[in-house]
Amino acid sequence: MTRATASPYMEWAKTRSAARYNLARSGMPDQPLSALGATLQDVETDGADGYGWAPLLETIAHRFGTSPASVVHLPGTSMANFVALAGLLSPGDDLVAEAPTYELILSAARFLGANVVPFIRRAEDEFRVDPEDVARAITPRTRLVALTNLHNPSSARLPDGTLFRVGEIAREAGARVLVDEVYLETLYETPMPTAHRLGPVFVTTSSLTKAYGLSGLRCGWVLAEPDVARRLWRLNDLFGVNHARPAETLALRAFAKLTDLAPGFSRMLETNRGALREFLATRSDLACFAPPHGTVVFPKLLSGDVGRLCGILRETYDTTVVPGDFFGRPAHFRLGLSVPVDTFREGISRLGQALDDLRKG
Ligand SMILES: Cc1ncc(COP(=O)(O)O)c(C=O)c1O
Repeated sequence: MTRATASPYMEWAKTRSAARYNLARSGMPDQPLSALGATLQDVETDGADGYGWAPLLETIAHRFGTSPASVVHLPGTSMANFVALAGLLSPGDDLVAEAPTYELILSAARFLGANVVPFIRRAEDEFRVDPEDVARAITPRTRLVALTNLHNPSSARLPDGTLFRVGEIAREAGARVLVDEVYLETLYETPMPTAHRLGPVFVTTSSLTKAYGLSGLRCGWVLAEPDVARRLWRLNDLFGVNHARPAETLALRAFAKLTDLAPGFSRMLETNRGALREFLATRSDLACFAPPHGTVVFPKLLSGDVGRLCGILRETYDTTVVPGDFFGRPAHFRLGLSVPVDTFREGISRLGQALDDLRKG
């Protein structure tokens, strides 16, 4: 197994995804300080950090109906995933991971010296998880199973029954289940239906990035049983030790604003989902599972080359989507709905024109 030391997807996302009609995005538009109703007076720079800032840990714990001892506050879901993987996997262990999935989970596990053993979530089966596929992928060295819920790239939602069964399979194998729930937040449900509530075998991660456009605060967390949470806090001393105080103080402000922000984002997604449905009904060249929630879909191009499609989109139509190559599915591409409604309408209209151009050759 080659040790990963870089992420091709993240490099592409940071350097090549920007466009006038950026449908490569998967999170809400970035929010300014004013959206939090905050001013510089609210920002503090001082304050000793122990293992987390109590008001923030309590706020996160309250949101998920758990105890602050189960919360590890970390910079974004990215660091939450990394610390969880680092804490739960040793070199030579197997990580059973859904395929397709978010590439960074796989790269991070490979960086840590773990082997990735995939199980398939099939497009023809609306990207469901079949617990029997997970069971078949388990080896004597499996210490962790990794899932995303909602699924990146398809937005498929994992029913509790499926999660529960995967949890049982993992427990019997002496493993845990990592569920990246960063897109679950985009359901805007209260209380949040986190897998954390299904039992201690689950370790979940999330942040304020995707559902609230607050990536800049880098407010992410792991939810885990207290023993595991303590271990992850201690492990994080090797990486980041303390948080940026201004970000912590603003994150606390942000939590008080989430219920004000949610309805607008929710409406935007609903409108874009309606436009997407109309668009898909006109396209015989795409096969697409479009669930009634989530910020992305993962259409399959039924004939023609996705690389060429992406090239035409970018060069002629100033529009981007994520090539399916980054998910190990070269016939697919990921299309984002979390952009303003006018941008989305124009973006998919341009996608339609690019598809027509591709067909004409
Ligand atoms: C599944 C998944 N997890 C984590 C992240 C990163 O989130 P954050 O900004 O909270 O680090 C992304 C971003 O694309 C993602 O798709």
